[in-house]
Amino acid sequence: MSHRIVVLISGGGTNLQAILDAATDGRLPAEVALVVSNRADAGGLDRARAAGVATAVVDHRSYPDRDSFDQALIDTIDPAEPDTVALAGFMRILTPAFVAHYRGRLLNIHPSLLPRHRGLHTHARALEEGDTEHGCSVHFVTEELDGGPLVAQAAVPVHANDTEADLSKRVGEREHQLYPRVLRWRAEGRLRLTEAGAELDGKRLDPRGVQISVDSL
Ligand code: GAR
Repeated sequence: MSHRIVVLISGGGTNLQAILDAATDGRLPAEVALVVSNRADAGGLDRARAAGVATAVVDHRSYPDRDSFDQALIDTIDPAEPDTVALAGFMRILTPAFVAHYRGRLLNIHPSLLPRHRGLHTHARALEEGDTEHGCSVHFVTEELDGGPLVAQAAVPVHANDTEADLSKRVGEREHQLYPRVLRWRAEGRLRLTEAGAELDGKRLDPRGVQISVDSL
């Protein structure tokens, strides 16, 4: 049976598009079973519909608290029977109960070389702090915000006079290569979370995950 992925989004969904494209052209041997957004106006929903993928909206404003919102998310996601739940620009903080429910199946992509720049506005902070290198990370999600075991990272240079938009574009291109690659490892049964951390092909990964060079992407 094919590996089933549910993707959670809040916005434009360029990472979702990269995942859909990889699933269509065979680079990702998996089925995107469902796309869930917390915003009805998320552009990514149109991308899912165009690819013939089922969509659902769970609007966080319709729920009195995080617990009930996250339970509604679980009730929406579980019928799709996901092997992996991929956060792709999903901009809500998830409760420990949600994270525990999907432990070992929940991945996130973050626009920085974690542990640098957890949280928001990562490109602006990389510029402010004079970083010469920036990039993106995919990690298993745990209760610690942007702090779960790292699976892989792709770095990009920061050039003099770069703007936030320049960095966002450069990092975005790497994200679109990195996430389908990591999801492929999941689909092939090679990537799992153990008590000791992330494991690829039965080997414990380096704390920073696999460093993917531009050439190998
Ligand atoms: C991506 O850059 C992703 O790394 C980031 O949101 C963007 C979504 O873009 N995620 C986070 O900041 C999570 N805290 P997209 O909707 O075009 O894929």
